[in-house]
Amino acid sequence: MISMETIFPALYILAAAGFILAIKWMNSPVTARRGVIVGEIGMLLAVVGTLLRHEVVNYEWILIAFFIGSAIGVPIAYIMPMTAVPQRTAFSHACGALASALIGTAEYYRQTPHGFVMGALIVETLLGFLTFTASLMAFGKLQESLPTRPITYRGQNIVNLSIFGLAVAIGIFLIFVPEQKWLYPIFMVLALVFGVLLIIPIGGADMPTVIALLNSYAGLSASAMGFALDNKLLIVAGALDGSSGFILSVIMCRAMNRSFSNVLFGAFGTVQTAKKEAVQRPVRSASPEDAAEILDAARSVVIIPGYGMAVAQAQHKLRELHDVLDRRGVEVRFGIHPVAGRMPGHMNVLLAEADVPYDRLFEMDDINPEFPRTDVALVIGANDVVNPAARNDKTSPIAGMPILNASEARTVMVIKRSMSPGFAGIDNELYYMDKTLMLFGDAKSFVANIIKELNALVPVGAH
Ligand code: TAP
Repeated sequence: MISMETIFPALYILAAAGFILAIKWMNSPVTARRGVIVGEIGMLLAVVGTLLRHEVVNYEWILIAFFIGSAIGVPIAYIMPMTAVPQRTAFSHACGALASALIGTAEYYRQTPHGFVMGALIVETLLGFLTFTASLMAFGKLQESLPTRPITYRGQNIVNLSIFGLAVAIGIFLIFVPEQKWLYPIFMVLALVFGVLLIIPIGGADMPTVIALLNSYAGLSASAMGFALDNKLLIVAGALDGSSGFILSVIMCRAMNRSFSNVLFGAFGTVQTAKKEAVQRPVRSASPEDAAEILDAARSVVIIPGYGMAVAQAQHKLRELHDVLDRRGVEVRFGIHPVAGRMPGHMNVLLAEADVPYDRLFEMDDINPEFPRTDVALVIGANDVVNPAARNDKTSPIAGMPILNASEARTVMVIKRSMSPGFAGIDNELYYMDKTLMLFGDAKSFVANIIKELNALVPVGAH
């Protein structure tokens, strides 16, 4: 006989398997869509499994929350541009963390648990509350509704650590004496305040990395909630979330050659505008017609997309450029830097949206040895990720960051609107090299003009 007692574990095991497969498949652009779908099915099974539990006695409030949540979430998913995904993610972390913290708080006042459960509950609420305010702050900095520059003062780390230490000390005390309920609001406020203080010294520049870290905290909070509520699926899902967020932040730190302590306490971004070049140096610029002729004469081209490609939404035009050049016998590859754009996988997502063939996308380590054999490196809205200062200037804010070696190609062409710096706020030597041609304009319209010029050239085969 199939009873409810056998259905719950089966649904939960299937949901957990869905989450694990989702993470596995989202590892590669080829299987990423499948990963998203299986993750969504896993979440549906988890929700259905939970709603069928006998502890759920009233569906009205759940339905109201469901409709309010959907009324907010669905429009956000449609309206939010891809470039705003980092702040959208920060906002969802804030909501998830608050939910976790409030559930923990409700459980505490309802049951006054002891021992291990109280320990799990303290971890859950501490991480939940601090992640809530920290994520809201991260959202504000990314949206630029809060000042993005790091705000620092003497003794800041000591103040922050003292507040965190006090919250932890009260938390530990409550694990042993949970009846001291008057202490809980103090614990809660300290955790909320610490979340704000944690983000104040971090520049907007480092927010995407911090968000990955906050993702990890929210996951750990959910996992602790699983222990507090004896829900195994929450433990699994929270642990997956916690560990993947942590791994992602490590990968991002490595790709920018930063350490965790440098991100959290380094106040990166303070010098950003100070280093702007005062003196205008000459550069060589060219027209779409020149660019089309150079590309047509090339045998191999490596396209390097960056944040500007995302801003201009030039991915579909790039796909067209790839097709036109491919038909004309030019080998076109895309060099993808791990932190090009503003979020992990930013370029991959956009190029996949435009159906650029996956086998044309090359990661940094695979494409770098190819540059000396490449006729044209076509840099589109990328700046820091091709800046030789990372290798040559030890004092540069991006010193040591691995870069795409565009400067080693025979000719370099750079599409951007002006000589403005990129994210790190620094000048780029690449633009002043003899082999470099600056193609000034918006990425999308410039690429469209190159395509027009290429199509106007002698047809393929009539050379
Ligand atoms: P950036 O260094 O930010 O450079 C982007 C360039 O695009 C700018 O120089 C800008 O120049 C140009 N641009 C902007 N709008 C454009 C448009 N409509 N058409 C053409 N060009 C346009 O970008 P990147 O090379 O991709 O480097 C990414 C940076 O972000 C790195 O410093 C990285 O560390 C940082 N970061 C990345 C991440 C992730 S996970 N991806 C997370 C945190 C930080 P103009 O204004 O002159 O056009």
